[in-house]
Amino acid sequence: MGEALAIQGGPRAVPEGAILGWPEVDDDDRQAVLASLAGCAHAFGPNCKAFQQELAAWNGAKFALTVNSGTAALHMGLAAVGVQAGDEVIAPAYTWSSSATCALHHNAIPVFVDINFDTMNLDLDKLEAAITPRTKAIVAVHLHGLPLDMDRLMEIANRRGVPVVEDCCQAVGATWKGRKVGTFGACAAFSFNQNKIVCSGEGGMFTCDDPKIKARAEKLWYFGESIEPPAGQTHELFALGWMYRNNDLTAAFGRSQLRKATRNLAAMRVLAARLAAALEGTPGLILPREVPAGAGHNWYNFTVRFDFQVLGMAGEPSVARDRLVKALQAEGVPTDVWQGFILPAMTVIRAKSAYGKGCPWDCGHAAPVTYDSTAYPVARRHCDSHTGITFALRPPNGPGQVDLVAAGIRKVLAGAATL
Ligand SMILES: Cc1ncc(COP(=O)(O)O)c(C=O)c1O
Repeated sequence: MGEALAIQGGPRAVPEGAILGWPEVDDDDRQAVLASLAGCAHAFGPNCKAFQQELAAWNGAKFALTVNSGTAALHMGLAAVGVQAGDEVIAPAYTWSSSATCALHHNAIPVFVDINFDTMNLDLDKLEAAITPRTKAIVAVHLHGLPLDMDRLMEIANRRGVPVVEDCCQAVGATWKGRKVGTFGACAAFSFNQNKIVCSGEGGMFTCDDPKIKARAEKLWYFGESIEPPAGQTHELFALGWMYRNNDLTAAFGRSQLRKATRNLAAMRVLAARLAAALEGTPGLILPREVPAGAGHNWYNFTVRFDFQVLGMAGEPSVARDRLVKALQAEGVPTDVWQGFILPAMTVIRAKSAYGKGCPWDCGHAAPVTYDSTAYPVARRHCDSHTGITFALRPPNGPGQVDLVAAGIRKVLAGAATL
């Protein structure tokens, strides 16, 4: 009989305060933000312009536009590739909500494809069946930092004539065959929110290579104005736009964090490998599968799944999983359910509720689309059995913290049948 679980009154496996927060903020960050504050261009200032250039160079894009969220960049991407009212946009059934709701913001219809259990990404075997004559974009999500097989995805998309918008919000620095994600599709969206690998508080970046795509995205980005209209800036609106631009303080922080991204990514890969090795063979734990050949994972989120049969836990999988997560948290293991719902089961989708009056689903240009939440069994199985680990695998945390996390996980799983 091992030590009592912390949730049952035993000692914690991970002492209070042992796991350090993210991101690591140092004097470089402080100086960058204070210098921006001392300047007098707080809206789209010099840091915004520099951040665009630096991110474009770092990722290998011709153009970058700094935005106030990754969601904004996704919406700009759909507008830029020509999605219109009533069009269909394909997204994985399991991802962040806005990978799909960006379509609704453009009065277009999300269509879901189940995921592959091993990669947790959209199942490329099921993609073609979801493409219809109305499919006008595929949102290619590199979930948790594992890139999709971009050779296969682009072959299907190009053959069927459907543009790809890459959702790289979690995948900063991830690579496919040595090339950074975000460089394969027509354009890409990055997020720089609190949890992301380049954190600027909130924010993100839109990237692309084609000047026409850039020009269309730019209109949505800034009210619908054209930044370089034929006769100077007149504030005439050339399209329906939003206000998605970002500000100088945020860009200053983002630039400073971007300078550390390559170093942080290298550390994360080492720490993820250490955790995987420490947990290998733990009964009832399904570790991330070996990274597919060609993929460079960034380990944004180290997601594990539980095998409830092996753990001797009966009943609803999500209830058993929640019990395990609570027990892990009581041990001090910083883990959480990343996304508790598959997208087709979310109320907004099930109720077909967007801007009202049945649009976009009842729009004259649309064909009927149904959402049957049982049609995505792999996404459901993954969703109900997973928990994720993020900050513990990032600097300033190191091997000591990873070993504590591994010990906490092993301890809870050994006592799972008592929960
Ligand atoms: C996969 C994915 N897509 C899109 C987003 C949206 O990014 P943001 O929160 O910056 O709008 C996020 C993050 O929240 C995400 O994880």
